[in-house]
Amino acid sequence: MAQVISVSNQKGGVGKTTTAVNLSAAIAAGEKTCLLIDCDPQGNATTGLGLDINTLSHGLYDLLMGTASLEDAISETQLPHLHLLGATRELIGAEVEMVSMASKEFLLRKIITELRARYDYIFIDCPPSLGFLTINALTASSSVLVPLQCEYYALEGLSKLLTTVKAIKKRLNPVLRRVDILLTMYDKRNNLSRQVEAEARALFNERVLETVIPRNVRLSEAPSYGKPIILYDIRSRGAQSYLSLAREILERKKAP
Ligand SMILES: Nc1ncnc2c1ncn2[C@@H]1O[C@H](COP(=O)(O)OP(=O)(O)O)[C@@H](O)[C@H]1O
Ligand SMILES: [Mg+2]
Repeated sequence: MAQVISVSNQKGGVGKTTTAVNLSAAIAAGEKTCLLIDCDPQGNATTGLGLDINTLSHGLYDLLMGTASLEDAISETQLPHLHLLGATRELIGAEVEMVSMASKEFLLRKIITELRARYDYIFIDCPPSLGFLTINALTASSSVLVPLQCEYYALEGLSKLLTTVKAIKKRLNPVLRRVDILLTMYDKRNNLSRQVEAEARALFNERVLETVIPRNVRLSEAPSYGKPIILYDIRSRGAQSYLSLAREILERKKAP
């Protein structure tokens, strides 16, 4: 049964999509079967894996509305062990349409229940908001991975996210087990990065993952080639850091 991990932070530009794409690709490269769900109407995870959100015929939206089969909605990617449930243009309207649907917080969980047996890991790339798509993602997840950009105001907004997670655990999803914090865009020559790291580790202790993702230009180039970093430049520091993160996540699963 798949572990379901939401990559979430209501701030934009903190490295959610970069993490969702590259972590799922790194885990898939180790021959664990992965599904990446693009839950952000911007569709950056979809394009980052080389699919076109304007021409993709089916995706998450169709499953939420019950108008396509799993087989039609799930796409293959350049990595044999990585599948994508992509964003199509219609996803932009989903939040509004979901509001009037029955069991509106559980729509994604229902879809994932049907998929869990097929994968080892399911990652959900969340939009930069705490709206209905994010609530659906958190309600369907076993854990949350929160990228924290090592910049000014990194920790701002984090308490709101943690409060939301707590409320969802209480009301909607008791199996939401853990929150992991990932430091992204780290620059070791920069004092500020070191300060953010020290502050995050002091406040959140073992919830901050050991692996830190450096700022690396190859990571920002890869999406324009429609490739995860391990297929674009495996030797880059960015690729190596996401491979380390994959190992840390896999190892942790073995721990009691
Ligand atoms: N570690 C990194 N090094 C350099 N650029 C990065 C890194 N992580 C993300 N980026 C770039 O920063 C921008 C925002 O990242 P993204 O993953 O799209 O954030 P989010 O999904 O949280 O909005 C993108 O242009 C991305 O390519
Ligand atoms: Mg994104």
